[in-house]
Amino acid sequence: MYQNDKPFKIGDITLDNRVVLAPMAGVCNSAFRLTVKEFGAGLVYAEMISDKALNIRNAKTMDMLYIDEREHPMTLQIFGGDKENLVEAAKYVDKYTNADIIDINMGCPVNKIIKCEAGARWLLDPNKIYDMVSAVVEAVDKPVSCKMRIGWDDEHVFAIENALAAERAGASAIAMHGRTRVQMYEGKANWDILRDVSRELTIPFIANGDVETPEDAKRMLEHTGADGVMIGRAALGNPWMIYQTVNYLETGVLQPEPSIREKMDVCLLHFERLMALKGEGTAVREMRKHASWYLKGLRGNGKVRTAINQTTTAVEFRALINSVGDGMAEEEMIEVV
Ligand SMILES: Cc1cc2nc3c(=O)[nH]c(=O)nc-3n(C[C@H](O)[C@H](O)[C@H](O)COP(=O)(O)O)c2cc1C
Repeated sequence: MYQNDKPFKIGDITLDNRVVLAPMAGVCNSAFRLTVKEFGAGLVYAEMISDKALNIRNAKTMDMLYIDEREHPMTLQIFGGDKENLVEAAKYVDKYTNADIIDINMGCPVNKIIKCEAGARWLLDPNKIYDMVSAVVEAVDKPVSCKMRIGWDDEHVFAIENALAAERAGASAIAMHGRTRVQMYEGKANWDILRDVSRELTIPFIANGDVETPEDAKRMLEHTGADGVMIGRAALGNPWMIYQTVNYLETGVLQPEPSIREKMDVCLLHFERLMALKGEGTAVREMRKHASWYLKGLRGNGKVRTAINQTTTAVEFRALINSVGDGMAEEEMIEVV
């Protein structure tokens, strides 16, 4: 059991528990967020949204603003490189969406984003963080949070300075991934630096990086003293991991893995939600990667995955996933190994 009596509160929003779904581009749309929420996440983050795309009302970007009422509390994340665009986008999210919290991305490591002076680029300059975050905080009513990495590279780890700059600027919470920009996803997340940051902040701190199991989540909370633990990759095709983690933190008991049928039912629920959100063609295409995550660990899943990758219709997709759930494909899968 994990004991921490301090309430976990961002602005005036009290979170039910300490388990947070990480923002993941191309993954954390409303269909996935709701599914994870139903497995008990205390807070879910949306995938990052470009300030400029939002400001020109790009149709796909506007669709990304959709939030299901059952997702609350949820955080919508924006990214950008210049103050004017960022503030304008934040104002839009503040006024016209039902997001509870506005998050600013200062962790994205990819070149395309860095070139626009956005994402992890900010990590080299605490003054810029202060300047940008204060401008957004002043312009909106909703609480503002920041998600960052520990630094740019090993020589530029300004984790504490950056976090304190955001706090001084009025941020209501900070989430931090324990890797530098240069590390991308290599090496290990540095939980010691997360602990050092956590000790300095007075606002809520959410620690992130390399939580793969419920036990990892407990270890991370204990090691860092963070208010929340953020989980990304471990939830891919595995939203029940969130439930297992919430439950483990509360009771100390590890829930058993769901059956293959139960797993496939969650995959189908996710799919139906994606269909409702994006239509059949896009949903089938986007579910290919999710299906391979849902099928991970099932021996000999290659044949079904190949079939799913060629599927263009919902009828076929459902039939394939159901065949796995019904155990028909399972025998075949084991044989294929
Ligand atoms: C596919 C994918 C997409 C991501 N997209 C975002 C994003 O849009 N915004 C963001 O702040 N971080 C993003 N991240 C980083 C995650 O939020 C998280 O910091 C990282 O995966 C480390 O946590 P984990 O070890 O639990 O996966 C992404 C990560 C992955 C794997």
